[in-house]
Amino acid sequence: MNKPILIGPFTQILPMSGLPLKGALKDEQLHIMEHAGILVSEGKVLAIGAYEELKNNEVELEIIGEDRVCLPGLIDAHTHICFGGTRANDYAMRNSGKTYLEIAKAGGGIWDTVTQTRKVNQDELIAKVTERSNHHLKNGVTTLEVKSGYGLSVEEELKMLRAIKIANKTVLQDLVPTCLAAHMVPKDWQGSAKDYLTKISVDLFPLLKSEQLTNRIDAFLEEGAFSALDIAPYFHMATQLGFDITVHADQFSTGGSEIAIHYQAVSADHLEASSNKEIALLAKSNTVAVALPGASIGLGCDFTPARKLLDSGASLAIASDHNPGSAPMGDLLTQATILGTFEKLSNAEVLAGITYRAAAALKLKDRGILEKGLLADFVSYPTNNYQEITYQQGQLKPNGVWKNGVSVVN
Ligand code: NIG
Ligand code: FE
Repeated sequence: MNKPILIGPFTQILPMSGLPLKGALKDEQLHIMEHAGILVSEGKVLAIGAYEELKNNEVELEIIGEDRVCLPGLIDAHTHICFGGTRANDYAMRNSGKTYLEIAKAGGGIWDTVTQTRKVNQDELIAKVTERSNHHLKNGVTTLEVKSGYGLSVEEELKMLRAIKIANKTVLQDLVPTCLAAHMVPKDWQGSAKDYLTKISVDLFPLLKSEQLTNRIDAFLEEGAFSALDIAPYFHMATQLGFDITVHADQFSTGGSEIAIHYQAVSADHLEASSNKEIALLAKSNTVAVALPGASIGLGCDFTPARKLLDSGASLAIASDHNPGSAPMGDLLTQATILGTFEKLSNAEVLAGITYRAAAALKLKDRGILEKGLLADFVSYPTNNYQEITYQQGQLKPNGVWKNGVSVVN
């Protein structure tokens, strides 16, 4: 067996361990380790602690030099990076006064990207997913959820999910695929929303299982997309087959988060329109609330009520929602820190939202925290004070990223 590798010394390590999954967090709760190292063996953390104590003849050294602060690898629990084309024109129209829903009704919006994505073949899609994943990796993201949802037919959704699966074999971080065939009723579908969902659940769900394309089913519950009534049998079928449920909920109107809780969804994402009632229900549930500040910034809309969610006791993850329409920026840390300024979040709450609470939103128990036995996924920043990471609002870029203990960005 190879000798374990001691990586360090880091000026500070924030392992994000020993913190609660739900509720508000204060920076004083962070266990900050000074002049610390991470001992790695076979892709996992073997030990983490004072550098000089871990250093001995039994370990190989990977010396990093200069001041560095280390965090668990960032986890982006909600993206739509598998798409063709652009929606720069939607952005311009929104900024000249049209709303997201008006643009969608006029033939722009999600359907426009569906049309553009259908024109792109599988290999081109693989290339696009790979390029965007690499961009996120440089920003410290070692786990990235990727949704389908711009295919909206059995064949086209398969094309997207197969592209994500193939890209996942070569990109350096882990991609977590999600089927979002229930993004909207395709405009070329002759029939009701219910019929479309039946078709998908009968013809696509079994293939998702047999080809191991995903274990997660998502739906957009909103006016212009799907109603609670439409989605009930679809989610029922998905649950029966053992899929995890996640929901685009309460973006412009409420209702979605209640459905998410009813189906014991792993996460309810967006929540910009959630009122006290939905916030209280989410806080009582095991469904992780996921704020998507990139969509608020891209649309010029309200932010998810993150402060209220946390104070009520909910678990709050923060994700980029990187997509061609509502959230074209695709910069998780920048967006999370901006949410922090508007919603008055502590550093601990922002960092929890993009590490271990994001892992919980994806039901991943092996990451998001730096602790013995978990994946050696981590990121370092060129500073001696962790507060600089949020303070510089995403402009302090990583100077090291490790995936499974291997340096992938330096
Ligand atoms: O999460 N809200 C629905 N879906 C995406 C947007 C997709 C798009 O506009 O292309 C979202 O914001
Ligand atoms: Fe989304």
